[in-house]
Amino acid sequence: MTARPLLIVGAGGLSRETLSAVEAVNSVSPQWTMLGFLDDDPALHGRYVQRRPVLGPLDLVHDHPDAAVVMTIASIHNPGTRRRIVQRLALPAERYATIVHPAASVAAGAEVGPGSVFLAGSVVTAPQVIGSHVVVMPNTTITHDDHIHDYVMFASGVLVSGFVTVCESAYLGTGAMIRERLTIGAEALVGMGAVVLNDVPPGEVWVGNPARHLRTAHRPNHFVA
Ligand SMILES: CC(C)(COP(=O)(O)OP(=O)(O)OC[C@H]1O[C@@H](n2cnc3c(N)ncnc32)[C@H](O)[C@@H]1OP(=O)(O)O)[C@@H](O)C(=O)NCCC(=O)NCCS
Repeated sequence: MTARPLLIVGAGGLSRETLSAVEAVNSVSPQWTMLGFLDDDPALHGRYVQRRPVLGPLDLVHDHPDAAVVMTIASIHNPGTRRRIVQRLALPAERYATIVHPAASVAAGAEVGPGSVFLAGSVVTAPQVIGSHVVVMPNTTITHDDHIHDYVMFASGVLVSGFVTVCESAYLGTGAMIRERLTIGAEALVGMGAVVLNDVPPGEVWVGNPARHLRTAHRPNHFVA
């Protein structure tokens, strides 16, 4: 197989984790030729992150029409960020790479959308729908009959029981646990360590065991792409 050029959008922590996953994939079978990172912070341009160059701003994706792209910018407090950047770049779906670390386990038959990233130790136990631009960090387990919508972010060690729906751009913090048959609303934020026993309405922040509403609004303008 010919290795396809790859651009990583963003140059932060998730970007470096994604690069490590790409390198792990390549160590099994070369699939990607890493061109570099793209970031809108001019201070990063020309610098190296994990030995790879930051080539310039995000819009350089259009100067590399043959390159695959993976979006690794995320903000806990500004959950629409990922969707807004993908909309701004306006790339066709086939431009986006799906990255599955060789130490992740995604059940055969799972329908995974373009641009999604599965880091080491993440597990999808049975075929189900996982949307586009979803990030699954290490040791998160997504079990049977879940439905994960676009732009959802799972931090490390999240445990999702069966028949759970996680709506667009929700963020599930480190070590959260979700009871079966619940719905986590769009742009909701579940805090680290939460034990979720009820549906979480859209846009709400829930924490604790059992998880309870902390506040409705996200912190405004914590990060603006
Ligand atoms: C939920 C969260 C977003 C709240 O952050 P915040 O807005 O800065 O809130 P604060 O730290 O000011 O805490 C507000 C209150 O909620 C409590 N709280 C915050 N996070 C909590 C959590 N995860 N579980 C239980 N209580 C929590 C605080 O103790 C505080 O309570 P108090 O008012 O009685 O003192 C954050 O704590 C969190 O869990 N983030 C996810 C982290 C994560 O998973 N990161 C992965 C990165 S890869």
